Amino acid sequence: MPALHKLAPQTDARLGRIVRLLIAHATVVVSGTKIAGEIGTSRSEVWRLVQQLRDLGVDIAGHPSTGYSLKSMPDLLLPDMLAPQLHGTLFAKHIHHFYKIASTNTAAMEAASAGAPEGSVFLAEQQTAGRGRGANQWHSARSSGIYCSVLLRPALPPSDVLILSLAAGLAVHSAVQEIDSRVVPDLKWPNDVLIEGKKFCGILTEMNAEATRVRYVVVGIGINVNQPSFPADLQNLATSLRLATGTEWSRVELCTALLKSLDREYRGLLQNPDGASSILRRFQERSSSVRGQQVAVEENGGLEGVTEGLDSRGFLQVRTAQGMRTVLSGTVRLS
Ligand code: BTN
Repeated sequence: MPALHKLAPQTDARLGRIVRLLIAHATVVVSGTKIAGEIGTSRSEVWRLVQQLRDLGVDIAGHPSTGYSLKSMPDLLLPDMLAPQLHGTLFAKHIHHFYKIASTNTAAMEAASAGAPEGSVFLAEQQTAGRGRGANQWHSARSSGIYCSVLLRPALPPSDVLILSLAAGLAVHSAVQEIDSRVVPDLKWPNDVLIEGKKFCGILTEMNAEATRVRYVVVGIGINVNQPSFPADLQNLATSLRLATGTEWSRVELCTALLKSLDREYRGLLQNPDGASSILRRFQERSSSVRGQQVAVEENGGLEGVTEGLDSRGFLQVRTAQGMRTVLSGTVRLS
């Protein structure tokens, strides 16, 4: 896939194979010779790859002459860590991992235009130019969040793509609840997920479409997982799952739950005649602000009013002094 190589090198697939091997033999020391044989390389190359894993934060004890063992379970979003658990979903077969990249959404959009298949997943440990909605940046510190973009090729008209974005919010909601049912996320239209009023997840959906037909959609999901703190200007607005719960979360577990949940939502949308209405209903049930909330929207010169739910395509309805208005985009501020 030439477009990917222009952006950043993908993580060497042999790193994932070494991690899997060490996990499979977690209680013993695995010799360099055995690892070298399994991945088809030399012992000195294994040593070099182990150093790379250590640079990525994987805690490996050992030495080329004795062998290697894991000191703790690694929490890297490597394809070898995720794919076995995603068996049977749309997202099992084409997982691309980057140690560092500008933006997984940019990588996914470029790969899509070069013909990458539906269900391709792009994950990074760190983004140097993570993109948010509008002109915003997405804070993407190394290995503390999930930076994930998935490529979809739905047979939908462009006007129906918002539902996909709402479905992604629902998928994040279920994944978090599956792992810790005490956390009750709140969906904020269209694409934010909050805990106690602070944002821990943002979704950036981008598409390439003809007038009546979508060519491809990239759904980019950023989740603040284990950030211990945020810069002063974000402290009142942003949180992480760790800050909200007081415990470290496994990114591998959460990312697996997220992709499985996204797979269920996507299949439900495309296969069930009431798929879209189910998404709209559940989004409204899990959002404290989509109905009866005083809001200000920076769109078409701005409007103010009280939210009145979503229309059949997922757009926000707001009752203003001038009558009912449909919000197509823009930032919704809760007042
Ligand atoms: C927002 O709330 O403004 C949307 C943030 C979306 C961030 C994610 S992180 C993975 C993907 N890659 C990007 O550059 N952006 C999205």
